[in-house]
Formats: sequence, C-alpha cells, structure tokens
Amino acid sequence: MKGRIAGPRVSITGLGTYAPEKVVTNDDLSKLVETNDEWIRSRTGIRERRMAAPEEASSDLAIAASRDALANAGVDPAEIDLVIVATVTPDMLFPATAALVATALGMTNAAAYDLSAGCTGFVYALSQGYGSIASGVAKKVLVVGVDVLSRVVDWTDRSTLVLFGDGAGAVVLEQVESGGFLGFELGADGAGGESLWLPCSGSRLSEETERTLRMNGREVFKFATRIMISSAEAILDTCGKKVDDIDVYVPHQANVRIIDHAAERLGIPEEKVIVNADRYGNTSSGSIPLALGEAVTDGRLRPGALVLMTGMGAGLTWGSALIEWTIGMNGATE
Ligand code: UT7
Repeated sequence: MKGRIAGPRVSITGLGTYAPEKVVTNDDLSKLVETNDEWIRSRTGIRERRMAAPEEASSDLAIAASRDALANAGVDPAEIDLVIVATVTPDMLFPATAALVATALGMTNAAAYDLSAGCTGFVYALSQGYGSIASGVAKKVLVVGVDVLSRVVDWTDRSTLVLFGDGAGAVVLEQVESGGFLGFELGADGAGGESLWLPCSGSRLSEETERTLRMNGREVFKFATRIMISSAEAILDTCGKKVDDIDVYVPHQANVRIIDHAAERLGIPEEKVIVNADRYGNTSSGSIPLALGEAVTDGRLRPGALVLMTGMGAGLTWGSALIEWTIGMNGATE
C-alpha cells in the first residue's frame, strides 16, 4: 500500500530510546564461534552490539524507551489512546507486550496490541498510529519498536549471531498544525518468508526442533539492496519529492554495506545518512527509532527537516515513511 497523506497532519512529538547496558564486542563473539573482528567489520560494519540482561525482556526495554518518549512529548500516560508495540520478540505470544507496557506506565485509557512485520515493524506501526489519529479514533498514540533478538539467535551459528543486537525506541504521535507525515509505502512478499524465519514459534508444526532464527543471508542481502532503493523511490514519487529534498535518511540498520549501497544508488550524500549499526548491530524493530534518537542527539534532526525512513526484513516486508520533522513545536524538548 502506498499513499500521500491528504488528511490531518500528524507528527512525532516525543522520542525516547533504550539499549541494554551490556556491550558485546566482535572479539567477545570470536570466543564463542569461529569468527573475527576483521570479517565482521568488513562484511557488516558492526563493531559491537548490546545484549539484554537475563532478567530483561522486550517489555522492559520498551517501558524505558516509552517513559522517555512520553516525557519528551510532555504527554501524561493517561492521555495515550493507543499503544502499538512492533516486535518479533514479544515477552510471550500473549498477553501482548503492548498491554504490559501500557499498564506498567499507567496508560489506563489505551488500547494496546503488538505488530509483527519483522524489521519493518516500526514503519508499519507508524502508519497504523497515523491512521488511528487521522480517522479521529485516537488523539495520542505511542508507537514502540523493540526487539531482544539475543533470545532467539543461534549462539552456535556464526553467520547470524554476529549481526543482531537488542534495543528499543518509542515515539508519541499527535496531530500538529503543519509538517508531520507526508506519506507511507508498505509492502510484503510472503514468498520470501523462508529466507528469514523462526521455527517452532507458532502453530505450524515442523521438523525443526530448535526455536532459533534462521536466515539465508545472501537472499536477504539481494532483497535488501533492491527494496531499499525501490521503496525509497516509490515514496518520493508518491509524495512529489526528489532525492535532493531529503535532509536526513534513516535506513534500517541491518548492515552498513546495505546502507552504503542504498545511499549511493539513491544519491544521498553520506552526511545525511544515519548509521549506528556499528555500535548496535541489527536491532530489528528497534533499529529505526534508535537511529532517530541518534540523529536527534547529534543535531541532524531539526524541525523542518525532511526525513526518509526505510525498513525491510522478515516477511519479507518493507516500508518507507516520509516525515517533515516537527519535534520541538509542541512543547517537546529538542
Ligand atoms: O533485517 C534484515 C536481516 N538480515 C539482513 O539484512 C542480512 C542480509 N545479509 C547480509 O548482510 C550478508 O549476507 C551477511 C553479512 C549475512 C553475510 O555476508 P556475505 O558477504 O553474504 O557472506 P557469505 O554468506 O557469502 O559468506 C562468505 C563466507 C562463507 O564461507 P565460505 O563458504 O566462502 O568458505 C561463510 O561461511 O564467510 C563465512 N562466514 C563467516 N566467516 C567468519 C559467515 N559468517 C561468518 C562469520 N565469520 N561470522
């Protein structure tokens, strides 16, 4: 689905992020599997990633990020009408992690559900949050992207272990007078589902016995390098914008080689590209909001900036959102 927004203006009015304290370096992983820092850096650009403590689950990371997002927006938890948690590693299949987050933070008037769209989950959830506000059903929505992939990676598989990390980001969405989301482009291709999947995680019986992430890296790489470009081009075309109009590019942080390839092919200069995969690895649903947090901190995300976010991942799914950044205009701190 894709479309240029013609309805009410809705924007991100608060942002918060959280990454677990524990840092796992490439050298740490080289003690567990046959790999090395040089291979990981040259093939992925990743130097280190964060890992949740044994007592931490996705809801804990989500709660920390959400608390900061609410404070940043100056919104009371009771004002939130809807909580969407994008994740492929919920605390458990049910109850929804979103319900746990809502209750923990006192969002007593909120509906709450989880959304599963792989690493594209956060972009999907933004579009859902936008729709709820634009339709008038909700006034304030909390969208969280969180994953604790360290719980589902195969700690003996060097080809996947080195890629992933744990992290969360949350945003508050509200109606604004101008700026905000300009459009969304979202897609899915279940035929590619077998390229990235988690056996033994649902109702489909399988001969697999381990509930650990499986990936055909080369297939996902091919998909990623194609879709990061086509999705960006589609959203720009839909919204009547050009590549040169983009001030900040926030791609899914899967692999720095994929990011560099997409930026180069699209013609987006390096200084506009947000990269934090080197320090966090691929945090799946947490990746784009964590990168947004980075861009706010380093001063690149300013009110008025045109921001392109593009995600891709399990499903296979993809999605882009174009937003004119407004944070700071609603009493939220910059
Ligand atoms: O959010 C979306 C999720 N996933 C992605 O976006 C991942 C997309 N794919 C990729 O980023 C890349 O395909 C990888 C980084 C996963 C792999 O890079 P590659 O350049 O495609 O490597 P490869 O799979 O072709 O493997 C090359 C060699 C193989 O050895 P042989 O068969 O050539 O002897 C692998 O066994 O590298 C070996 N290898 C490793 N060596 C050292 C695979 N993993 C490692 C490792 N350390 N960690």
